[in-house]
Amino acid sequence: MSDTADLLAAGQHYYLPVYRPREVILERGQGARVWDRDGNEYVDLSAGIAVCGLGHNDPDLVAALTEQAGKLWHTSNVFYSEPPLRLAEELVTASRFAARVFLCNSGAEANEAAIKLIRKWATAQGRAPDRRVIVTFRGSFHGRTLATVTATAQPKYQEGYEPLPGGFRYVDFNDLAQLDNAMAAGDVAAVLVEPIQGEGGVMPAAEGFLRGVRELCDRHGALLALDEIQCGMGRTGTLFAHWQEGVTPDIVTLAKALGGGFPIGAMLAGPKVAEIMQFGAHGTTFGGNPLAAAVARVALRKLGSPEIAANVRKQSGALREGLSALGTEFELFSEIRGRGLMLGAVLKPAYAGRAGEILDHAAANGLLLLQAGPDVLRFVPALNITDVEVADGLARLRSALSSFAKKIPST
Ligand SMILES: Cc1ncc(COP(=O)(O)O)c(C=O)c1O
Repeated sequence: MSDTADLLAAGQHYYLPVYRPREVILERGQGARVWDRDGNEYVDLSAGIAVCGLGHNDPDLVAALTEQAGKLWHTSNVFYSEPPLRLAEELVTASRFAARVFLCNSGAEANEAAIKLIRKWATAQGRAPDRRVIVTFRGSFHGRTLATVTATAQPKYQEGYEPLPGGFRYVDFNDLAQLDNAMAAGDVAAVLVEPIQGEGGVMPAAEGFLRGVRELCDRHGALLALDEIQCGMGRTGTLFAHWQEGVTPDIVTLAKALGGGFPIGAMLAGPKVAEIMQFGAHGTTFGGNPLAAAVARVALRKLGSPEIAANVRKQSGALREGLSALGTEFELFSEIRGRGLMLGAVLKPAYAGRAGEILDHAAANGLLLLQAGPDVLRFVPALNITDVEVADGLARLRSALSSFAKKIPST
């Protein structure tokens, strides 16, 4: 099979049709640019959904991977290997709160581990099963396994998969009074929250919200678990997003940018819960794979550096400014929100539901973008994106918005 049309047809034919990718076949990348197999170049402001934090083809990540590939690929957790041992220590140190780490392969798996740890902790406290409730927030996204999709308080991800696991309760994001109410019966074991909701529309926690959640958890005897799978690893300008809120969590989950594009996830457990799960309580064949861990060690070191933090601040400013200007020019956006290099441009009500169409125009104009729901354009580029790449991306977005605007039916 040689030509692009044949390959696209194969995708249509053989993949379980749960995705609807754009009709391009990407072949290689460099920094914040990628090329398809027909030689077209794109500025990539999606970074594989906030995964390629160091862009494509980062030389240090490539070196770590290829060096490890020549030594040892896999041991399972029946035997130790050095990269995950070192990564675990480095994650504990970098986190400033964790005592232990569980390594896995994806975000959903990290959250699944967190959910199981919460339940075991509640069990160890002598709480009956109906007093091990986990509270999550409407608009959240925590993964696609049955437990994490139940934690994901959005009906569209759950419909048809009933019966869902019990013991989850949902409240409105950024509403402390409602949360207090939901915890009043004393049956809540933990609150699981994203410091910035990603899939739910790039919605940041309001100033003081996470501190308020921490206080309520303390008052009601519950754990605080933070899902930093999308907003962590330097994306908001600090290695962990919650550092900007001054809260200490009991559990943090990571994935996405932790491996810079190589699949890996992690659950970090603070002192209150680190000894709860003992031998046999949980496990995974691939978690802590030496290849993934070797890459993640480098990603962690680089993404936690002051240079990356400075670049995130700088490029966040440039991107925000550019998006505001485009929003004014095309009268398209009601708000630019988010933090660092996790930004959302919210479509005005007149264009509600049309983010997907704009993404089509973007791809046709050499720009890879994401949406966060039907009404929000999502920008989660590499954290080492350059001035030129940001400027190019904005110029291409301008072309995309012009062609979209021409197609807007006049009212
Ligand atoms: C905040 C958050 N949690 C969990 C997940 C699930 O991660 P994965 O797709 O690696 O299972 C995602 C994925 O988008 C996410 O954004």
